[in-house]
Amino acid sequence: MRENTLILFCFLFLSISLSAGDGKIWMDDVGCTGTEMSLQQCAFPGWGINNCGHSEDTGVRCEKEPINRDLSHEYDLNHDAGLTHELGELFDSRRDCDLNIAVVVDNDTTETICAHRVILSLNSNLETSQPDFSRLRIDVTSDCSQHANNFVRYFYTRKMTVTLSSAHCFLKMASDWGLKELQDKAADIFRKFLPDDPTFQSQNSLYEYAVLIDDVALEEVYLQYLAWNCEALIDSPTWTNLAFGVVMALLSRSDLVVSNETVILNGLERWAAAQENTTIPEVLLKLIRIPMIPVKDLYTLDDSQYHANKCQGFQFNALPFTTLTNDLTEGQNAYKPRIFTGRPWSFTFSHYIVRAYNGTELYTFGDHHSNNVTFDFQTPVHNSAGFTFHNMSWKATLHIGDCSNEIVACSSLPVVRLKIEANSSSDLPSEVKGLIRYSNRLIVKCREMYVVHVGEFNSADGEILAFVPSGAQQAYSCHSNLFSYQVVIRPEYATD
Ligand SMILES: *[C@@H]1O[C@H](CO)[C@@H](O)[C@H](O)[C@H]1NC(C)=O
Ligand SMILES: *[C@@H]1O[C@H](CO)[C@@H](O)[C@H](O)[C@H]1NC(C)=O
Ligand SMILES: *[C@@H]1O[C@H](CO)[C@@H](O)[C@H](O)[C@H]1NC(C)=O
Ligand SMILES: *[C@@H]1O[C@H](CO)[C@@H](O)[C@H](O)[C@H]1NC(C)=O
Ligand SMILES: *[C@@H]1O[C@H](CO)[C@@H](O)[C@H](O)[C@H]1NC(C)=O
Ligand SMILES: *[C@@H]1O[C@H](CO)[C@@H](O)[C@H](O)[C@H]1NC(C)=O
Ligand SMILES: *[C@@H]1O[C@H](CO)[C@@H](O)[C@H](O)[C@H]1NC(C)=O
Repeated sequence: MRENTLILFCFLFLSISLSAGDGKIWMDDVGCTGTEMSLQQCAFPGWGINNCGHSEDTGVRCEKEPINRDLSHEYDLNHDAGLTHELGELFDSRRDCDLNIAVVVDNDTTETICAHRVILSLNSNLETSQPDFSRLRIDVTSDCSQHANNFVRYFYTRKMTVTLSSAHCFLKMASDWGLKELQDKAADIFRKFLPDDPTFQSQNSLYEYAVLIDDVALEEVYLQYLAWNCEALIDSPTWTNLAFGVVMALLSRSDLVVSNETVILNGLERWAAAQENTTIPEVLLKLIRIPMIPVKDLYTLDDSQYHANKCQGFQFNALPFTTLTNDLTEGQNAYKPRIFTGRPWSFTFSHYIVRAYNGTELYTFGDHHSNNVTFDFQTPVHNSAGFTFHNMSWKATLHIGDCSNEIVACSSLPVVRLKIEANSSSDLPSEVKGLIRYSNRLIVKCREMYVVHVGEFNSADGEILAFVPSGAQQAYSCHSNLFSYQVVIRPEYATD
């Protein structure tokens, strides 16, 4: 508006002209200071008021205002997101594309994806691993063919939406093209997915894929998950379809979380039957820890198949440690416990108790507040049947609040403290004393179902503690806040 006004006045004054003119004299005694935006803002007696003749005429020449140019201000132009979107559109439109990538499905080229050489070359990983872009091709199985397009699109948008069912497809493509960086990032994402598929089908595909590309770290991510969730895996429809190698790799581990060894043996029988084999392959049967089978279950084992093994089991349960020493050192794993959660070897802080915490640093039970919850439970001193009547009393305390004024040092919370309250060592045979040790575990379960973390109890300041890692530090993700903590007692004969 102001600009218009100024122009209007300029026009008026120009018409008065610069030399002696005629017509009405509009302004006189004009006093300007130089900061005015328009002539009108200068002091003057009023429009048309004057005491002059035309000989004193003057006028105003309007010139473009000499703009004071300050060009030093910096503004950020950031259309990153827009660029991603536009590059995505460029890919979709195939406009000016100059590179045909063949998609080979089960050895048959079914389509070509047209891409832009220059865009792909922006990925330094790909530049080094694939010196000749014109040879780029994507080899997939038919279940993965639908993801080839999104894989190439990733090079444009640097974004990819991955699900547990498509994960192995992207991993394979990334591996084929030598994109180590993408593979590494993907493995981290997949940790988060693993609990999502209760059928274990996807986890199994991912594991087989990791074996295929010989990625040991990735193999371990899956195998550990399968091991920690072994009982659910054995119950799942995927179990009987597992490849021999997976079953072998699993049975070799001590970190299988199961009720008891019988569950594994029964699972293996079912697995072998599904392979149309009447007997369990010897090499797998050897991995069953017969002495760890609860003696009651051992008794009911089929005599014809397990005759020799049963004998080893009964010896473990009947003979004293000193007699078994040689077997224990030679038999090694057969006498090592897995993570047996069946009664009476574990105690669980259910999700009701864990939730009673609710970020307040206090557990609230009715009107009772506390920063800790304690439970007492008993187990035999050892799992050999010889110790059935020798109990150990344990006190498990879950701390959530500040415990700086307590004996226990809580460097992070929550923390579970495990204490031997009382033991019957006084009535144990003297030669056993000091020969039994415990390597107890703390299991973090998601929704009371999936094991997302297993921690060890370690001695700290004279206390036996296991810290519960925060969600992000747990090995696998739980898409729920229903956590439960399970304390597992694992006695062993000390053979060293
Ligand atoms: C593809 O071809 C290779 C070698 O010619 C062969 O070993 C493989 O079995 C074929 N795969 C399929 C799915 O046909
Ligand atoms: C072993 O675990 C299974 C499954 O939880 C259970 O049915 C069985 O009773 C357990 N055996 C013993 C002796 O506790
Ligand atoms: C059955 O088990 C035997 C060894 O016990 C093994 O040699 C054979 O390959 C197995 N057969 C199948 C179909 O898995
Ligand atoms: C935690 O406490 C707040 C307020 O006291 C309550 O609104 C919320 O529902 C509680 N959450 C859980 C998980 O109990
Ligand atoms: C546990 O909480 C109770 C209060 O409910 C308190 O008296 C006790 O000192 C706490 N124990 C530890 C070890 O923090
Ligand atoms: C030993 O502990 C078990 C539970 O594990 C319990 O049922 C039994 O009564 C206890 N025996 C003695 C003598 O305390
Ligand atoms: C059992 O208790 C005695 C004394 O109370 C103690 O010296 C011993 O270390 C305890 N045994 C175990 C295995 O903790």
